[in-house]
Amino acid sequence: MNILHIDSSALGQNSASRELTAALVARLRQLHPEARVIHRDLDSDPLPHLSARTLAAADDAIVAENAAVLQHFLDADVVVVGVPVYNFTIPTALKAWIDRIAVAGKTFRYTAEGPEGLAGDKRVLLAVTRGGLRGADRFEESYLRFMFGFFGIGDVESIRAEGLNLSPEHRQKAMAAALQNITRLDDESRREAA
Ligand SMILES: Cc1cc2nc3c(=O)[nH]c(=O)nc-3n(C[C@H](O)[C@H](O)[C@H](O)COP(=O)(O)O)c2cc1C
Repeated sequence: MNILHIDSSALGQNSASRELTAALVARLRQLHPEARVIHRDLDSDPLPHLSARTLAAADDAIVAENAAVLQHFLDADVVVVGVPVYNFTIPTALKAWIDRIAVAGKTFRYTAEGPEGLAGDKRVLLAVTRGGLRGADRFEESYLRFMFGFFGIGDVESIRAEGLNLSPEHRQKAMAAALQNITRLDDESRREAA
């Protein structure tokens, strides 16, 4: 089984989403000791924003990196994504990754009947961390669910820790609950991979 582990927090070792993605990957490894894991930290190892230069494929190094990022996504059976909420949505570092995997003919295609996802054989686990409590919005999650759905992936599950910045007690409780949920993560991908 191939696991793709994506982090995008700008808060380094204090990152709550990083703690949750690490716990998710550890849990998956417990369930699948043979799993291969590719980890991309989009903060320490960022992808450039889309630009005229990146779109024109003018730079061989960028072209090669984009191809590798896409291939890691296509090869993954499970994708674990750290989703810190910044300014009501995903970090721009994570958006740059989405921009690399949204590739016509690879992860989606347009047909006479509308768009068709081509990467449906995956499970996606989102570790969503938020300083406040959820209001009317969950823009980050609805955007990511839409995008993964656009790629054909319906199996998207969220582990959430919210209210992290309200007080140390809120943070401790929310993280403990999220980590507890992770220990109960079931083994759907084992069934799919078998
Ligand atoms: C630049 C920035 C913007 C933020 N914007 C929001 C926000 O819009 N809503 C919110 O509830 N928390 C916001 N927060 C708090 C983060 O969601 C919180 O720190 C969370 O732990 C982020 O995940 P991380 O620790 O993995 O980076 C923001 C934090 C930063 C650094």
